[in-house]
Order: sequence, then structure tokens, then C-alpha cells
Amino acid sequence: MAFRTLMIGDIVGKPGRMALEGLLKDLVAAESIDLVIVNGENTAGGSGITPQIFQQLRAIGVDVVTMGDHCYRKRESLPLYETEPRIIRPANLPDVAAGHGYTIIENKNGVRVAVINLLGRTFLKPVDCPFRAVDAALEEIGDKTKLIFVDMHAEATSDKIALGWYLDGRVTAVAGTHTHIQTADERLLHQGTAYISDLGMTGPYDGVLGRDKFRVIKFLTTGMPTFFDVASGDLHVCGALITADETTGRASSIRRINMQYKPEAGAASYDASDGKGEAQEEI
Ligand SMILES: [Fe+2]
Ligand SMILES: [Fe+2]
Repeated sequence: MAFRTLMIGDIVGKPGRMALEGLLKDLVAAESIDLVIVNGENTAGGSGITPQIFQQLRAIGVDVVTMGDHCYRKRESLPLYETEPRIIRPANLPDVAAGHGYTIIENKNGVRVAVINLLGRTFLKPVDCPFRAVDAALEEIGDKTKLIFVDMHAEATSDKIALGWYLDGRVTAVAGTHTHIQTADERLLHQGTAYISDLGMTGPYDGVLGRDKFRVIKFLTTGMPTFFDVASGDLHVCGALITADETTGRASSIRRINMQYKPEAGAASYDASDGKGEAQEEI
């Protein structure tokens, strides 16, 4: 039976959450989607996640939240990683790091799936080897399910493509996140793994990777630190839709999703100051 999974790229701040909430329900119904996986590392003010936001994502139909280099930005999220099986942090962090690098859950129809989160090593802080970490995760997952989805959160496309080939035939999909720019290289690899280098950002495109463009330009032209507020205009939901065989776990198609969200006239406007007060240079 065909199993359809929507993987959504980095959701940035309240505008990103609002866009997803505005479009997800209809998209799930129209595309008969069985599972929704989102990258939530930028959901809270552009960096990190909170328990409340995690619950909001669950309430609008998200099944699993993956994270990335910003996974521990919000202190209040730490207990979430220990208690909640539907949020994971990169598997190649040290063993003692809060949370888990993969999860096995059942979707709304009782179908068991596994999701693994990994972090790249190029232009990011040092972490353990993602290849060895994913081998260990797959060993533990064993034959509990054939439907396995990997979020490779990495800067370099080479890191992601190499991991795609490394996992070809062993997982259902390898989808990249972190750059906030959707790539046009979605394809099926030779052994049936769906692949895309980056799912793209879900959030405001009238900015720089989801942040206020004037603030970023000011920083880049002066070299002086500033607040990188979350941007507010031109909202898009980006990701990919993967169809796979439920019993073999092999993918049969992958399609990019890039949908603009226009809040209805008269709808409550979101607070564009969502990211204010967070002085940080990393996006
Ligand atoms: Fe990231
Ligand atoms: Fe991100």
C-alpha cells in the first residue's frame, strides 16, 4: 500500500508556524498524507522550540518534530526531549545529550515508522560521525519498520548527497534541512531511497533565511552585532511529499512542495516582533 509522507523544512518563528497551520490541514486532505514530519529548530522566535510550540505543532497535525544545531536554544525545551517520543535531536550528538536521535512511532492509522535526525559536520560545530550514528540507529531499528525517514540537518550539499548514497536502499527517504533554501535536486536513488538536498524554509521569504533583511544587511555591512528579528512577509510552506511502499519501505516518488500562504483578509495578524530580543548572529 502507498504510504505518503510530508516532510517540511525549517519552520521559522510565528510566521512560519502560522503559514503551516494555515495550509497543512487542506494539504493533508488533498494529498492523502499519512505522516507529517517537520523540522522545528527555528520555531521559537527563530531559534529553538518550546513545549507550548511543540504541542501547537502536534495539534495542527504534525506527527514528528526533528531538530538541528539549535535544538537546545530554549532551556525550557530540555525536559521535552526526555519525555516526548515525537521530538528528536541529532543522533550524532554525544550520548549524554538530552533526548534521542531517532524515534519509532505509529501514525494515525497505526502504521509504524522510524524517523532519524542527523547533523552535518561541515561549517557546523564539531559533532560525532553522522554515518556511524545512522548505522547505530538503523541497527537498533532493525526490522521494527521498513518506513524510515532521515532528516540530515547540514550546511554542505556534499555531506547530504554522500549520506543519501550511503543510505540508498536502507531507508525510505533522506531529506536535508538547515540551509533554509529549497534545492531542485529531488530524485529517487538507485535502490529506492527518495532524496532531496534541502526541503527549504517554511516561513517569511521577504528577508534573509527568515530574518529581517535590513538587520542582516546592517550586520554584514558594519560588522556590528544586532538583533536578527524574524521577518514577516511573503510566507511559504516548503518541503517534499514522498510516496513509498508500506511493506518494503522503498520510495516510488518524491515531489517538492512550495506553497505561498496568504492570510485571509481580516484574519488576526501575527506578531512580527516574534524574534525580538534575541541577539544572535547564527541563523
Ligand atoms: Fe540549523
Ligand atoms: Fe534552520
